[in-house]
Amino acid sequence: MHAPIGVFDSGIGGLSILQALRAELPFEDFVYVADSGHAPYGERDPAHVIARARAITRYLRDQHHIKALVIACNTATAAAIHLLRHEQPDLPIIGVEPALKPAALHSQTKRIGVMATQSTLDSEKFQALLTSLKGQAEFICQPCSGLAAAIESGDAGRVQALCTQYTSAIGKLGAETGEIDILVLGCTHYPFARDQLQSLVGGAVTLLDSGTPVARQTRRVLEAQSLLANKFDTSHLFCYTGNSDSIHGATKRWLNIKTPTQYINI
Ligand code: DGL
Repeated sequence: MHAPIGVFDSGIGGLSILQALRAELPFEDFVYVADSGHAPYGERDPAHVIARARAITRYLRDQHHIKALVIACNTATAAAIHLLRHEQPDLPIIGVEPALKPAALHSQTKRIGVMATQSTLDSEKFQALLTSLKGQAEFICQPCSGLAAAIESGDAGRVQALCTQYTSAIGKLGAETGEIDILVLGCTHYPFARDQLQSLVGGAVTLLDSGTPVARQTRRVLEAQSLLANKFDTSHLFCYTGNSDSIHGATKRWLNIKTPTQYINI
């Protein structure tokens, strides 16, 4: 079916999910909304995030007639996916959650660090996920206030300082008994600090994000509803609220594509 897939985040973080979506679904069109004018979500009231998720979904449906929606943001998924699914029962909606399940499966030491926004960690959805994995591993949760904003603004010095602060606060990292051997990147912005994080935590620690599982889940959902496209001349549109600086730089840097960007007032 030749309608685009809508993808959104508070800013550029969701591009880490879009990278995986493009690899998994190369014949699809995408419309991406970077809600930079209303970021960061992770340090705002859930009511604010719900209102933004509703406004963006409405925009993507009305203006772009999307066939499915990927909420490329852990914070917005935790706050709003259940409401959006309830309000838009005819729209397939795929969300992101921190990769705790694969981490529990693959960890040898069974000690797993989770970096996420305060809002994600506080959410009922995340707490339920933790409870469902009780007994399988120990999760050490680290709220990373300011990190998404620093990545968004491209402030490398601040990104480095915050990554240093949070990885040392989380505890001993490594592959030995009692050490954290997997660090879950529970915010879609954090994969863009992967190099800094990996050099801080060392090669024995695996960094786990949610890009590939979300992309695979999106394929499964589209396949099940016969919504997959198969055209070669795909198109991408990047929309933003607020400032254009981060989305311009990020699409070129992270996706290696120069494509139209459009300011939207929603
Ligand atoms: N990228 C978002 C997430 O996955 C949130 C970043 C923000 O705080 O706006 O949680």
